[in-house]
Amino acid sequence: MSSRRRIGIIGGTGVDELEDLEILRTHAPATPYGEISRPVQEGRWGEVEVFFLQRHGSPGAIPPHLINYRANLWALHSLGLEEIVAINAVGGIAEGMRPGRLVIPDQLIDYTWGREHTFDDGRSGALMHIDFTEPYHRELRRALIDAAVTAGIPHAASGTYGATQGPRLETALEIRRMAQDGCDVVGMTGMPEAALARELGLPYAAICMVVNPAAGLGDKPLSLEMMRATLQQEAGVVRRLLETLLATRYSG
Ligand code: HPA
Repeated sequence: MSSRRRIGIIGGTGVDELEDLEILRTHAPATPYGEISRPVQEGRWGEVEVFFLQRHGSPGAIPPHLINYRANLWALHSLGLEEIVAINAVGGIAEGMRPGRLVIPDQLIDYTWGREHTFDDGRSGALMHIDFTEPYHRELRRALIDAAVTAGIPHAASGTYGATQGPRLETALEIRRMAQDGCDVVGMTGMPEAALARELGLPYAAICMVVNPAAGLGDKPLSLEMMRATLQQEAGVVRRLLETLLATRYSG
């Protein structure tokens, strides 16, 4: 049991609201980087104070390359959160990464470009050469894995997240190359989010839900509808994992 009480959850595609969150207030802090995707909802989930931010800004739909990641992370940090769990929908690349598979990645490769990817504006004089050897917070990842085990949720306890630029999906050969690089799953929002959290010193880990076979690996054309349908089916799993995490890591 721990005394940590303020957790941030960043929701991705298909996670517009946290059903169990009793919303008490919302926050839209001003940031030096502009507006956040949507006001942060602060609420109670059981005994825990949870801050929820939908990175795509529902009911709108900010595409992955236009999300203001810096504003989002800055705002969450300014609200005094102690750590962040991100939820990402991903395509499955490696064997076994079929729709419905839950993955807690331990590595990533960043293929994105042209995004505002750092708080280091060169003006502060402090070079932000953050150590990113392990891009996800080891102890928070462990807590997610323990929660998955406790809740009896099948999961991959490690995996490499390949972050692509989007918004288009990948070509079959891009996916083959990513597989050769060692990517297990592919998504568009994992970076620069993870690096910005590290720059701010915020422990950050991700829960990835495979929602489609990556390009060239399935037998149907890829569509957002197909991804949303899988997410809807699997929403209960993510919810159960979060609930267990909150009960074991933050309550008491
Ligand atoms: N590629 C990139 N991002 C994604 C995918 C995909 O196949 N599925 C969900 N997000």
